[in-house]
Amino acid sequence: MSDAAAPTPPEVALATHGLTKSYGTTPALVGLDLTVPGGTVYGFLGPNGAGKTTTIRCLVGLIRPDSGQIELLGQPFTWRDRRRLARVGALIESPAFYPYLSGRDNLRVIGATGAPPARGRVDEVLELVGLRDRAHDRVGNYSTGMRQRLGIAAALLSDPQLLVLDEPANGLDPAGIVAMRGTLRYLAARGRTVFVSSHILPEIEQLADVVGIIDHGRLLRQGPLERLLQETGHVRVRVTPGDAPAARRLLERFAGPEAVWEEAGSGRVDGWITVRVAPSRAGEVNRVLAEAGIYATGLESGNDLETLFLSLTAGRA
Ligand SMILES: Nc1ncnc2c1ncn2[C@@H]1O[C@H](COP(=O)(O)OP(=O)(O)OP(=O)(O)O)[C@@H](O)[C@H]1O
Ligand SMILES: [Mg+2]
Repeated sequence: MSDAAAPTPPEVALATHGLTKSYGTTPALVGLDLTVPGGTVYGFLGPNGAGKTTTIRCLVGLIRPDSGQIELLGQPFTWRDRRRLARVGALIESPAFYPYLSGRDNLRVIGATGAPPARGRVDEVLELVGLRDRAHDRVGNYSTGMRQRLGIAAALLSDPQLLVLDEPANGLDPAGIVAMRGTLRYLAARGRTVFVSSHILPEIEQLADVVGIIDHGRLLRQGPLERLLQETGHVRVRVTPGDAPAARRLLERFAGPEAVWEEAGSGRVDGWITVRVAPSRAGEVNRVLAEAGIYATGLESGNDLETLFLSLTAGRA
C-alpha cells in the first residue's frame, strides 16, 4: 500500500450508546452499546435478522437511528455528518456499480466523488482484491464474487482509518476468503480498524481480535476473542468407572467444583469428566490424575464457542 507510516490508532475507533432503531413497529436495534478498540479487527456476529446491517447503515449515515449516540474515530457522529466519513470506508450488502463500465472505471468514478485517492491507488486496490486481470472487463460481466471483491476495493479506495464491512465474505470462493482475511489482518496491523459483520462463527473465529455477539437488536456478549475462547474452553478425560469418584474429587480441587461435571447418559460421552479450563491445560489435568495413580483412558480438549453462540442466540444462526 502507498501509505508509509502506520498511524497510531485511537483507543476507541467506534462506539455506540443506546442505539435504537425500529422499522415501523418492527424493532431492529434495542439500545445497542458497542465498543470497538482501535487497530483491531472487530467481528460483529449475529444470526439472520439480528440487526447487523441496520447497525452498519446507522454507522455510515445511510439511515437515522431513533435514539442513541454514535462515536466515530473519537468524535460524535450524526447521520448528516458526512465530512468525517471520508476516513471511513464501507461495504454494505450488494454494492451498486455501473454495469456498462469496467471495474477500473467504476473505481475511478467512485474516487472522483470524494476526496481524490492517491495516485495509482485504483490499481493498487484492484491488485489487493485480486481483480487486476479483470480490471478492464465490464462489471455487468462480473460474477457475484468478483462484484464483492470490487466492493471491498471501493471501500479501501480512500485508505480509510475505519473500515466497515457488512458480510464481506458473501459470494467469495475459499481462496478469496483467505485473501480477504489476509488483507484485513494487514490493515489492522497497520493501525486501521476493521469492523466486519458475519453470521458465520468460524469465519469470525479465524479473523477477529474482538467479538461482539448480537441478536434481536441487543448486544449479548462483547470481548476479546481470546477471552471468549478461554471462557468456553474445556478439557475432557475418560477414566474407568471405579476411578470416576476419586478423579472427580481431584479435578474439583484442581479447577473448582463448578468447573467439573460428568457426562451422564449413554453412548460416546459415557465415563467422560469435563473440566472447564483452557484447552492448553490438558497436560495439567492429566498429571493431577496420574499423580494419584489414575490413568486416563481418553483425553480431549477444545472450546465450545459455537455452543455458546448457539445458546446465546437460541440456535437461530
Ligand atoms: N427496510 C426494512 N424494513 C422493515 N424491516 C426491516 C428492514 N430492514 C431490516 N428490517 C428488519 O430489521 C431486523 C434486523 O434486520 P437486519 O437486516 O439489520 O439484520 P441482519 O443481522 O443484517 O441479518 P442478515 O444476517 O440476514 O443480513 C429484522 O427483523 C428485519 O426484518
Ligand atoms: Mg445483514
